[in-house]
Amino acid sequence: MPTYREAHRRSIEDPESFWGEQARRIHWETPFEQVLDRSNPPFARWFVGGKTNLCYNAIDRHLAARARQNALVYVSTETGIERRYTYAELHAEVNRMAAVMRSLGVTQGERVLIYLPMIPEALFAMLACARLGAIHSVVFGGFAAPSLAARIDDATPVLIVTADAGARAGRVIDYTPLVDEALARATHKVPKVLLIDRQLAPERLQAPYLVAYEPLRERFFDAHVPCVWLESNQPSYVLYTSGTTGKPKGVQRDVGGYAVALAASMEHIFQGKPGDTMWTASDVGWVVGHSYIIYAPLIAGLTTVMYEGTPIRPDGGIWWRIIEQHRINLMFTAPTALRVLKKQDPKLMEQADLSSLRTLFLAGEPLDEPTAQWIQSALKKPVVDNYWQTETGWPMIAIPRGIEALSPKLGSPGVPSMGFALTVRNEATGEICAPGEKGVIALDYPLPPGCMQTVWGDDSRFIKTYWNSVPGQQLYSTFDWGVTDEDGYVSILGRTDDVINVAGHRLGTREIEEAISSHRAVAEVAVVGVADSVKGQVALAFVVLRDAQALDKAGAREALEAELARSVDAHLGAIARPARVHFLATLPKTRSGKLLRRAIAALAEGRDPGDLPMIEDAGALVQVKEALAR
Ligand code: PRX
Repeated sequence: MPTYREAHRRSIEDPESFWGEQARRIHWETPFEQVLDRSNPPFARWFVGGKTNLCYNAIDRHLAARARQNALVYVSTETGIERRYTYAELHAEVNRMAAVMRSLGVTQGERVLIYLPMIPEALFAMLACARLGAIHSVVFGGFAAPSLAARIDDATPVLIVTADAGARAGRVIDYTPLVDEALARATHKVPKVLLIDRQLAPERLQAPYLVAYEPLRERFFDAHVPCVWLESNQPSYVLYTSGTTGKPKGVQRDVGGYAVALAASMEHIFQGKPGDTMWTASDVGWVVGHSYIIYAPLIAGLTTVMYEGTPIRPDGGIWWRIIEQHRINLMFTAPTALRVLKKQDPKLMEQADLSSLRTLFLAGEPLDEPTAQWIQSALKKPVVDNYWQTETGWPMIAIPRGIEALSPKLGSPGVPSMGFALTVRNEATGEICAPGEKGVIALDYPLPPGCMQTVWGDDSRFIKTYWNSVPGQQLYSTFDWGVTDEDGYVSILGRTDDVINVAGHRLGTREIEEAISSHRAVAEVAVVGVADSVKGQVALAFVVLRDAQALDKAGAREALEAELARSVDAHLGAIARPARVHFLATLPKTRSGKLLRRAIAALAEGRDPGDLPMIEDAGALVQVKEALAR
């Protein structure tokens, strides 16, 4: 076995040979002619000419050896439903869904927008798209109608798949009114909406475009839909993510590179073996769900567990009992969940038999040291932090335990993964920072397989957004600050842009600002993310009203705060709701009119705002302090 250092160096210096070998982990219907095409940087094309299919690799390929092994275990503590699907049963369900979609006009290259809660049909629908060569775009069920409408207009789907309702913490959330509103707002007309009826919300099939899934599933019960073989670089999905602007970017992923990268990550990082059971407690609407609830575990022949519910319902021991009951070997979640679990009665964890569990993986936000120390000592199993983004699709920093069991270091997710030429760079010069020196985490061209190909429908935005931060250098910016140590371990120090991370959910402060400023009373607003002991970060809004006297009446402040919160709920969804809204007479800005978000955030966290550029109105910062003290 090569050491980590040797393997990593080879993956960077000779990607053709490294990834050419890794490509053997998946099925190729037609072999590729070229491992890597770098003729058009910053775009990279992997496994050129090879034909494959994600659904085939996730299901069909396993039928010979594991038809009777569970592929999917579904647990909902919201509805009390538990279901198991063997690989053979999953194959049948995905064929039915694919046949239904085909009957509704879905063909290769068309987009299908999936707006579903955590139900097995979400997985069936994604894999059915993959089977047909259609491109799925899953929109997180917590997003409100305007966010959904924006994604409809950008992805221009031929079909939406939705359900009557989602359920969260005992509350039923009707989905169809949201879909109705989104369709009314969107310019693009979607001909059909396929409705999965969970019988949670009142029957609502009036809209002419709604098609019930169940009768069609019956009609296509015995259907067999062949896999459409796609050239490795054709798109498999588009997943929207927040950035600096109010308009989310459609991260576009390929087929072959993604399959190979995930299969390699299962070996090198997650050490998931065929027959293991993996539980990724995330949502299918996020990248962690795409990669590690759906594709990676199935491609590697594992049993994947899909969970609808929270960590503390019916009580704070539920997650530990699920691990015990389903003999989970690998668990993956976000630090937020652990910070919630840490507050529960420790007996709830001690009472569960966690002997099946080998490793706990954490990603999505910084793992703070107290939480890391607590979980390590309570669990007595390896806890592996890993750092990545929607854009990369799989961990770019982790402990590659499948290659070399490097010891983890507190405060760092580890070292760069195979194929990631990752460095920390000086923000201004692009020079590689010395150990201990803070800079921006960047990747050299080419990005390894599995990473985003481009921004959906907008190549120039891909270049401008990600590849333009250091003049004259072909570097991909992660927009995260980081620092390396003498041994090459990287620590993540927060975003360089206006993206915040609330309970592992990536949100753009600009999007929240737009939702708030859509309220007629608002003249100006700044939203910043500040540290929170449970959620990692929360959003705070600082609002300047058109008419400051509007606050004079008793109760007006509270009423307006509640109204602005509702406005965020309606535009983006409750996950984006600011924890507090503060009202100010002016916002702190530079003389050129740039909002001083970092200074506001520093004050809100009780830090020194540091060196300030020329400020327009020095009193504005004092106002921020006073508002925070109220
Ligand atoms: O700021 C980093 C943070 O989450 C961002 C990416 O979020 P998203 O696109 O939703 O993808 C999540 C995939 C796990 C990053 O730019 N982040 C992610 N993982 C970590 C992290 N920050 C610190 N430590 C991590 N392990």
